[in-house]
Amino acid sequence: MIDAITELRDAGLARIAAAQTSAELEQLRIALLGRKAELPNLLRGVAELPPEQRGPVGRAANEARGALEAALETAGARIAAAELEARLLSDRIDITLPADPLPRPGRLHLLTQVRREIEDVFIGLGFRIEEGPEIESVYFNFDALNHDPTHPARLESDTFYLSELPGAPEEMAGRLLLRTHTSPMQVRAMLATPPPIAIIVPGRVYRRDSDVTHTPQFHQIEGLVVAEDITLADLKGTLLAFSRAIFGPDREIRLRPHFFPFTEPSVEVDVSCFNCDHGRLADDSRCPLCKGTTWIEILGAGMVDPNVLGHVTANGYDPERHQGFAFGMGIERIAMLKHGIGDLRLLYDNDLRFLEQF
Ligand code: DAH
Repeated sequence: MIDAITELRDAGLARIAAAQTSAELEQLRIALLGRKAELPNLLRGVAELPPEQRGPVGRAANEARGALEAALETAGARIAAAELEARLLSDRIDITLPADPLPRPGRLHLLTQVRREIEDVFIGLGFRIEEGPEIESVYFNFDALNHDPTHPARLESDTFYLSELPGAPEEMAGRLLLRTHTSPMQVRAMLATPPPIAIIVPGRVYRRDSDVTHTPQFHQIEGLVVAEDITLADLKGTLLAFSRAIFGPDREIRLRPHFFPFTEPSVEVDVSCFNCDHGRLADDSRCPLCKGTTWIEILGAGMVDPNVLGHVTANGYDPERHQGFAFGMGIERIAMLKHGIGDLRLLYDNDLRFLEQF
């Protein structure tokens, strides 16, 4: 009898140890200890045994029941922990997955896009990119660029002046200003690099101006090429290549005489209109871009004035031997022409409905 009990106990313990799920375990509890199970049946039969067997058999059966109950409890905890672990693993959220729907990527501001586009064109033509200080001296902004002492751009009404900087380097001595154009870098670059030189200078410039077509701060790109045997034809060929790269392969350009203090001769450069046919739109109305003239002004340029080279002779620039051309354009203007933007201020309002169009 006791052997049968021990056998029942050991078989039960083995099945419990092998159980994998809580459902399996519950079935085992019923099979081993439930109303119809063998061990409880045996216990119920103890009363009918001869008196001297009742004690040992009863103890063995009770001990077996206790062992099975304890094993069921331990296995229950083991299985519950394993099931929780499995649930946590399958439930795991991968926070590195991209969101759904994907957030829209940001974009570069139109002015940055256009600046980079222009830079790419000139890099392709062999130019280097240089940048210069936005706080500039009167010397580099006006004097070295051959501005007459009475030139109106020097007026406080036109230019932002700063107070003198005590202890400033000699080149910055005197009154300082926010540069009114990127042209001061012509002289700075020639002081740093002996001829030949071919650079463009993108950057911010400042003027005391504010209306529909002017903001106190805007952007320019300066160009400078100085070497031996540079002619106006080089200037025209360079700007034609630039115009076709930016405004389309069918463009032509024309040079009109103009005046800038630091170039001689000086020109304004027009590009043929890319918006109309002989000044007229499809409905025969006047083209608003070129105002019916078929030409659009895009920049100022000219041959570097020998007086400017006179400021950099110490670095190998000889006004008798070296010639060069220079040009300067507004990035805002190029962007507005290229994308048909009517109001300059749209570029600075940071209205997403506008910015997201580019
Ligand atoms: N600095 C001139 C301006 O801001 C633009 C300019 C004209 C630049 C002629 C040049 C140039 O380099 O040759 O209006």
